[in-house]
Amino acid sequence: MSVRILATSPLVGPALTDLGARFPDLRLAPFRSAEWNAALRETEVLVAMVSEPITEADLAAAPKLKAIGTYSVGVNHLPLKACQARGITVVNTPGVLTDATADLAVALLLALTRRVAEGEILVRSGKWKGWAPDQLLGTGLAGKTCGILGSGPIGLAFARRTWALGMAPAFWDREGRGGQVDFGPGRAPRLILPDLLPRSAVLSLHCPLTDQTRGLLDRAALEQLPVGAVILNTARGGLLDESAAIDLLEAGRLGGVGLDVYDGEPKLDPRWLQAPRTVLLPHLGSATVETRAAMAGLLCDGLATTLG
Ligand code: DGY
Repeated sequence: MSVRILATSPLVGPALTDLGARFPDLRLAPFRSAEWNAALRETEVLVAMVSEPITEADLAAAPKLKAIGTYSVGVNHLPLKACQARGITVVNTPGVLTDATADLAVALLLALTRRVAEGEILVRSGKWKGWAPDQLLGTGLAGKTCGILGSGPIGLAFARRTWALGMAPAFWDREGRGGQVDFGPGRAPRLILPDLLPRSAVLSLHCPLTDQTRGLLDRAALEQLPVGAVILNTARGGLLDESAAIDLLEAGRLGGVGLDVYDGEPKLDPRWLQAPRTVLLPHLGSATVETRAAMAGLLCDGLATTLG
């Protein structure tokens, strides 16, 4: 049996099918099914989703493996060191999901601060009695500081969007370099966490999950935010201490939490379902037709190079 490409989904658009036509054989099998496990032994290129953690044991079970292509920009679900040690190329999808992810962070921001979900529920419930001066009052954004943890392409794209909303972006200074970050239409200060957190009316996560960033927003960090601050996470669940965030929401210290990603997803801390002032999405950051097709194209181009 020869399996040049093993994947769990055809992806969006024609890219993977086209790749399979160019380099037969392409095998589709559910992740960790008996068929997937059996095919792994013969596989040259493995296509993985962000929801499919690949282990060192998988690499050991795949002696012909040349490359892993992940249908994501994030690579925290892959055993990177082991891949490097075995000479296995890792292909991911940077760049093409920048705008989609930054857009979704804005969607969370506006949904929280303008109470969009609560308003929708009120109308659909049939209980709306009409306009009222103090009905579902939200909070304005203009003039407030938006702390951004991550100054890569998505962090910069989100900064441009907050700037367009009248906010003042400020970036996390991971290495203590100081200075400013040029985000296109303007420049924003780069601040160490103890300076950034107390001034951030909104704090948005846009950094990868690594050994260095795991638990970055722990309880002590969250307690440095101003009362009423809003947190957005469209990056990775392990960056935020979710239990502490729920405690601070319940205590009225945080103004809102908008999440697209969760530690251990798709399982959720059940307290999220009852927590006040939250908007909870099912990992939709890159979920547009255009973006997912572009991700598939980029991924398959990279894998073709490995196979060719
Ligand atoms: C990524 O690309 O890392 C997103 O989380 C899924 O598209």
